[in-house]
Amino acid sequence: MTSAEHARLMRANQANWDARTPVHVASRFYGLDADLDPERWFAAFEWEDLGELSGRDVLHLQCHLGTETLALARRGARAVGLDFSAASVTAARDLAAKSGLDVTYVQANVYDAVAALQGRRFDVVYTGKGALCYLPDLDRWADVVAGLLRPGGRLYVVEFHPLLNALGPTPAPGEGPELLLRHDYLGGSGPVHRDATYTYTDGPAVEGATDSYEWMHGVGEVVNALTDAGMSVRRLRESDELPWPRWPRMVRTDSGWWRLPEPRIPLLYGLLAVG
Ligand SMILES: C[S@@+](CC[C@H](N)C(=O)[O-])C[C@H]1O[C@@H](n2cnc3c(N)ncnc32)[C@H](O)[C@@H]1O
Repeated sequence: MTSAEHARLMRANQANWDARTPVHVASRFYGLDADLDPERWFAAFEWEDLGELSGRDVLHLQCHLGTETLALARRGARAVGLDFSAASVTAARDLAAKSGLDVTYVQANVYDAVAALQGRRFDVVYTGKGALCYLPDLDRWADVVAGLLRPGGRLYVVEFHPLLNALGPTPAPGEGPELLLRHDYLGGSGPVHRDATYTYTDGPAVEGATDSYEWMHGVGEVVNALTDAGMSVRRLRESDELPWPRWPRMVRTDSGWWRLPEPRIPLLYGLLAVG
C-alpha cells in the first residue's frame, strides 16, 4: 500500500474520530460529567515505569479527550496532548479548563508531530490504549518519536496486547463464552476495515463518518521499529488486566481493573524505551 493510500485511510479515520467524539463526551464509559479520577485509566506499573514526572516535559500522542493527559499533568508534568481529531482536541481543552490544569493541546497527525510541535523536544512521550492500531507504518512512527525525545528521553507505550485484538470483539448475543482467535495477531496483511457506527463506549450510533481502518502490530514489530530508530527497549511488561470488563466473565481485581479468571493471557503491555 502506498503512502498516499495510507494518508487517505487516515483521513477517513480522522473524520470517524471527529464523529465519535460527541458520543464519547456524553458516554458513561468516559464519565466526564462525574469528575472521576483520571488515574483510573492507569495501571500501577505504568507509574513505576514512568518514574518522577514533576517538572518534566511530557507529550501524550493520540490523546483523544485528554483524560490520561490530565492525569500526567496532575502528577506535575508540563503536559502536551496531540491528536488529529479537531473535535477531540476541543473537548480535551474544555476538560482541562474545567479541571484548572494547564495542558497544551495540538491538533496534528502523529506523522506530522515534529513540525506541528516546532521542533520542541520532550523528556517523556506517552501513548497507547488504542493508539498504535491506527498507525499504518510503525517504522515512520518510531522515527517521529525519536525526533520528539531529548537525548535519554523515555517513550512509554501502554497498548492493548495484539492477542486481545486477535480475539476480536465481545462475543455477539447468543454466542458461547469461548475465546476464539478471529483476527490476525501479526501485522503485514494491510488494513482491517471496521464499521464504527457503534463505537466502544455506550451511547447512540455515531452520526456521519463511520468507516474506521486499523493495522495490526505484533509486539516484535513494535520493538524492532523502535530499535531500528536508535532507541533501546528497557522493559516490556505483559499484564492480564484491563481497565474495563471486555468479557462478561471477567472479574474485578484489587486494583479496580478486570481480568479473566482463566486462561491467564496478556491483554495489555507496557513498553519502556529510551532515546
Ligand atoms: C482510543 S483513542 C486513544 C486515547 C486514549 N487512550 C483513550 O482511550 O481515550 C485513539 C485516538 O487516536 C487518535 N488518532 C488516530 N490516528 C491518529 C493519527 N494518525 N494522528 C493523530 N491522532 C490519531 C484518534 O483521533 C483518537 O483520539
